[in-house]
Amino acid sequence: KPIVLSGCQPSGQLTIGNYIGALRQWVDMQTTHDCLYMLVDLHSITVRQDPKALYEVCLDGLALYLACGIDPQKSTIFMQSHVPEHAQLGWIMNCYTQMGELNRMTQFKDKSARNVTNINAGLFTYPTLMAADILAYQADQVPVGDDQKQHLELTRDIAARFNNTHGKTFTVPEPYIPEFGARIMSLQEPTKKMSKSDDNANNFIGLLEDPKKVAKKIKRAMTDSDEKARIYFDPKEKPGVSNLLTILSSVTGSSINDLVPQYEDKMYGHLKGDVADAVVALLEPLQTRFSALRNDRAELDRIMKIGADKASERASVTLDKVYKAVGFIPKP
Ligand code: AQP
Repeated sequence: KPIVLSGCQPSGQLTIGNYIGALRQWVDMQTTHDCLYMLVDLHSITVRQDPKALYEVCLDGLALYLACGIDPQKSTIFMQSHVPEHAQLGWIMNCYTQMGELNRMTQFKDKSARNVTNINAGLFTYPTLMAADILAYQADQVPVGDDQKQHLELTRDIAARFNNTHGKTFTVPEPYIPEFGARIMSLQEPTKKMSKSDDNANNFIGLLEDPKKVAKKIKRAMTDSDEKARIYFDPKEKPGVSNLLTILSSVTGSSINDLVPQYEDKMYGHLKGDVADAVVALLEPLQTRFSALRNDRAELDRIMKIGADKASERASVTLDKVYKAVGFIPKP
């Protein structure tokens, strides 16, 4: 089976965007792929996190992975910081990456422009740690959204460069574009992506939020002003309405083409009501499963330990190969 690796940043509560764009796809991939799913806590501290909140959000994230259907019997689930090989290989990756390459990363440009008081070296070298995450497991495929394409391209360049210099050491990974991947946009500013770390909580739907509040947020979502307030799918002209249709389609499994005619003579309020009902119907059982898992810390610890051991065993094989390739003396 092809090896696939992915992860979410515990930089806030996971959103319905993470669910639709990632978690849901990861669950399906478990039957076709050899899957490794992590919570990338090392990456999350490139932006300042409150330690207590980070601790809780990591446990929440793990319990959410499980509640969504990621199965520790089928997949390797772990915390990035529990597998030291990520940071170790990350250092080597730093030494095989040019400053100029990192300077060209648009995510660094965006994130550093938004947060001028903390432009740290970790934020700059984020893509080299991401390369280590992927290459450590010799991943064949990496599910990526638009925003991560450039980073994966860099990972491929670093892998190819290392292989050319030292002989074949790494699998050069391919992007994996899921068949039904959808990008969920912010509720109030539907031209930008829904993000868990958005300052305005009205912009996102957290997977652990009170369903009543979620329904209210959806009903207050920004729609588009056009004279007739018609409902159709056009992300350019009607970003708000199109985002609601995307969410409804993703959550119910009906295609957008099937949904649109149902709203021919209806108003925005009808659409919002249906989206709210569908999202609440998704969240309620998910949150019930989550609560049971989240309250069993011993079980979460057991799953984290098994995942970390399995991941470390695999990553250390690659790290040994890399250390040997660069000429380090194996520890006697
Ligand atoms: N809005 C979204 N629509 C579809 N997919 C999304 N993903 C995230 N947001 C959406 C997908 O979720 C996976 C994990 O992403 P991440 O948590 O590592 O980081 P991110 O993409 O930077 O997500 P956020 O919420 O925007 O995080 P912050 O606010 O911390 O930067 C990825 O596969 C991503 O595509």
